[in-house]
Amino acid sequence: MEALRAELRRHEHLYYVLDQPEISDAAYDGLMRQLQELERAHPELAVPPDSPTVRVGGAPREGFVKVRHSAPMLSLDNALNEGELTDFDRRVRELLGGDAYEYVAELKLDGLSMAVHYEDGQLARAVTRGDGETGEDVTENARTIRTLPLRVESEWPRIEVRGEVLMTKRAFERLNIEREAVGLPLYANPRNSGAGSLRVLDPAVTAARQMEFFAYFLLVDGKPVLSGQWASLQRMKAMGFKVNPNIARLDGLEGLLAYCRQWGERRETLPYEIDGVVAKVDLVEQQNKLGWTAKFPRWAIAYKFTARQAETVLEGVDIQVGRTGALTPVARLRPVNVGGVTVANATLHNEEEIARLGLEIGDTVVVERSGDVIPKIVEVKSRPATRTPFVMPKQCPVCGSDVVRPEGEVATRCLNSSCPARLKESLLHFAARSVMDIDGLGEALVDQLVETGAVKSIADFYELTFEQLAALERMGEKSARKIIDNIQGTRQKPLARLLAGLGIPFVGERTAQFLADDLGSLDAIREASEARLQLVEEIGPKVSQSIQKFFAEPHNQELVQRLRAAGLKMESDGPRRPPAGPFVGMTFVLTGTLPGMEREEAKAMIEAAGGKVTGSVSKKTSVVVAGAEAGSKLVKAQELGIAVWDKDELLARIAPAAQA
Ligand code: IVH
Repeated sequence: MEALRAELRRHEHLYYVLDQPEISDAAYDGLMRQLQELERAHPELAVPPDSPTVRVGGAPREGFVKVRHSAPMLSLDNALNEGELTDFDRRVRELLGGDAYEYVAELKLDGLSMAVHYEDGQLARAVTRGDGETGEDVTENARTIRTLPLRVESEWPRIEVRGEVLMTKRAFERLNIEREAVGLPLYANPRNSGAGSLRVLDPAVTAARQMEFFAYFLLVDGKPVLSGQWASLQRMKAMGFKVNPNIARLDGLEGLLAYCRQWGERRETLPYEIDGVVAKVDLVEQQNKLGWTAKFPRWAIAYKFTARQAETVLEGVDIQVGRTGALTPVARLRPVNVGGVTVANATLHNEEEIARLGLEIGDTVVVERSGDVIPKIVEVKSRPATRTPFVMPKQCPVCGSDVVRPEGEVATRCLNSSCPARLKESLLHFAARSVMDIDGLGEALVDQLVETGAVKSIADFYELTFEQLAALERMGEKSARKIIDNIQGTRQKPLARLLAGLGIPFVGERTAQFLADDLGSLDAIREASEARLQLVEEIGPKVSQSIQKFFAEPHNQELVQRLRAAGLKMESDGPRRPPAGPFVGMTFVLTGTLPGMEREEAKAMIEAAGGKVTGSVSKKTSVVVAGAEAGSKLVKAQELGIAVWDKDELLARIAPAAQA
């Protein structure tokens, strides 16, 4: 087991930190599963806290504990232009009295700073910056960050590594797509979503959000231990931390200015956001000589890139209708150049965002572009007298049916499930790479298929003929053949993908995977009670109701029928999670009323703990759970000598499973 752990750690470092995997994801998963099985099979051998299997070990918590930092986590003075950077360099030169010095230039990563403590080589505590003096203990969440080693080789018994936690642009976009699909408010930028993701109470949420950690300080007792910043960075890299590769050691202002200009132009090419460059005087001896002001070190500075913003006029608001029927307002702008790109549209998210900005048509607004993210309006600059308020339409702009804004939701929705806009979006969603992955089925083709009436539902994909496709405009025979093959190929896709493709509100890829793993078949999911559904990971009342509502609709039932007839896979490939829990192999009978618990709920709990529930007592029954006014079943159980439990006993025996 130790050998497997070492091997897994090595592959995690290769994959996450160095970005140079040696084995496939599947091979890695295989090793991980092997270790998990061994750990499960040998409960007598304690699982060490740094085992690769326990990244997501911690349970959700009530709140965060405040922790005082070993030394304040200061912020940096800013240089807003090259002149201010030149001033900084002059002060450094003067204060060092003519000694030679070098700068270490680093990217200013746009995330959150965090201090991570290791004791005897083990990750012991991770603390957010907070107000700089005290932060919050986010250890369990930080453990889920794959670029953060759980253990390190170190010559000091206690070390502290400070660095930046961030979310990549890709992870951020994925998260927002998922949130949009389920009607949750969107995050404004990767920084905010990163902050939100690190400070959630449930570590599983952080784990799912794919955060990164870049190390930039190595401290012992709150002080640097090596001679300089460059040496620290190299050492941390050797210890297995991810150190940003775009660092440079520069011997004067000229090099530093060049580095700043270069990254100002190249920032878009990075997979994460940066908002400037940090320059640090390399040697600690010189850093100490320069010292600190009350707020900042005098030996470092943050050169800030100019924000890519521009002013323009809001000429109108268009409405887009998404797959779930959500109406999204999109700002139509007088085209304007923002940092080299012409911007004519900006997302407005929803009515609340418009109200928050105090925005009306005709206003002069500031638009901002950050990274690859869709441009957005950050503020209103002026409000002419002729401005007109935006009113959310009462009818869907595509199909004309009435729209509603459900209570407690920010999104206004078109509820007509055959609305062409919704249909197109749901077909595209079904075909998307991360769902059924039907190569060649893009927007242009879906438009044609919907407009010619060839496809009115997902199930129609499976009845498309070669002739039908080949007859479409701009469609060659070869592509038509390929697309048909690709569609047919989806029959073998795992259940989780099909489930995600159905477009059940609130059931995205992640939830679909949990459902498929736990319940094992589409029929089981369709038939599951609300209580049973809520025992599936991350599913609460909102999602369980949505699932039931979906399967209760006749046209959705028909859709499932047709997909089944088309030969799609309706079962999981062997349960990912084998039946587990204290009741595996046991049969239960429920009788009487259990105080404060619906029978469905009790049944669901027993099933989730691995047990079976049947209707009548026989010799095969393991336990009868009896409540008030239990009748003949109780009598029969007593005759047969079968164990009888009350509700409390049931709960006590189930406890380990309910917490799992
Ligand atoms: S050094 C006293 N290095 O920028 C030194 N900070 O305004 C302070 N940041 O709070 C930190 N990238 O969150 C440093 N390479 C980098 C950085 C960096 C981003 C952030 C950090 C800090 C803020 C300083």
